[in-house]
Amino acid sequence: ISCSAEAKTVVIGLAADSGCGKSTFMRRLTSVFGGAAEPPKGGNPDSNTLISDTTTVICLDDYHSLDRTGRKEKGVTALDPQANDFDLMYEQVKALKEGVTVDKPIYNHVTGLLDPPELIDPPKILVIEGLHPMFDARVRDLLDFSIYLDISNEVKFAWKIQRDMAERGHSLESIKASIEARKPDFDAYIDPQKQYADAVIEVLPTRLIPDDNEGKVLRVRLIMKEGVKHFSPVYLFDDGSTISWIPCGRKLTCSYPGIQFSYGPDTYYSNEVSVLEMDGQFDRLDELIYVESHLSNLSTKFYGEVTQQMLKHADFPGSNNGTGLFQTIIGLKIRDLYEQIVAERAAAAVEAAKV
Ligand code: ADP
Ligand code: G6P
Repeated sequence: ISCSAEAKTVVIGLAADSGCGKSTFMRRLTSVFGGAAEPPKGGNPDSNTLISDTTTVICLDDYHSLDRTGRKEKGVTALDPQANDFDLMYEQVKALKEGVTVDKPIYNHVTGLLDPPELIDPPKILVIEGLHPMFDARVRDLLDFSIYLDISNEVKFAWKIQRDMAERGHSLESIKASIEARKPDFDAYIDPQKQYADAVIEVLPTRLIPDDNEGKVLRVRLIMKEGVKHFSPVYLFDDGSTISWIPCGRKLTCSYPGIQFSYGPDTYYSNEVSVLEMDGQFDRLDELIYVESHLSNLSTKFYGEVTQQMLKHADFPGSNNGTGLFQTIIGLKIRDLYEQIVAERAAAAVEAAKV
């Protein structure tokens, strides 16, 4: 009897710089799967892991081989591969994918030290999120689907100011300096991973307001690779055509600067892709149903599911623009991918039983 019927973990990689919306994305994703993910019960309160019925999210910072002091002594940042143990990352993701429990280290973000490890059981869906999910070719090959959140420097800066200045009392100068200090390693080790991603969410300043530098209104692009197994891109109006659409009018309320969608085929790092773009923001989230009804291949289970998800989490950052919309759509696509993989295995099991 073949082993193809074995329940294997589906592995998803989510890459982005820190402070770029990974945890918000994870909350949207686990909600699509039907339950919020929580920290492990009774474990280390500083654990970075989140667990729901179906999904376990592990933070790749846990594979730091150098702690905060170690990095300082060696003069390397957390983004530098030298500060990370890719052999262990590979071994443990592989083990989990094969159904084997692992003893995963914990990087404590409060103390900057490596804490004693925690046991991680193989889930149905494993999400590895962090700086380097697609950096190491061995780890990359274990991924059933990969996503890169590509936040442009202007927007990253605006978000950092919002958070670090308003909530953490940092100065504008120190925020600028910390972004600048990270940039060389970011460009060398993090950014190049986007060429491997099956889906990229690119977040840019709006083009609807001339010389906007506030970073509040966003132009967001969902770049979807063609030909990925179990993943067929969403489209607007007609698959493969090129469309520009202003939905504002009788059916959608828009205040200045309005909303502009576009869609079409393109190439991205010499891969064939489809790109769906939304510039601007929604005034009334319930009217999103109008936009949803014009999108096809959404992998929803019922009419209006995208709008329902967006309304459910209206308080999450990005709910009124393309970041929230596209994160929700990718969540639905991952659910679909997972269900296809499970169905394929069940069919293989039936076949195997016949022999
Ligand atoms: P990460 O997990 O990558 O560190 P978070 O999801 O915690 O990122 O987001 C960090 C901060 O960035 C949030 O507190 C918020 O200020 C800002 N942010 C994240 N996503 C968005 C978004 N889509 N729109 C606006 N701000 C956002
Ligand atoms: C984690 C984050 C990094 C961040 C680092 C802080 O590893 O993923 O993005 O830079 O912590 O490191 P530091 O050396 O400043 O403590």
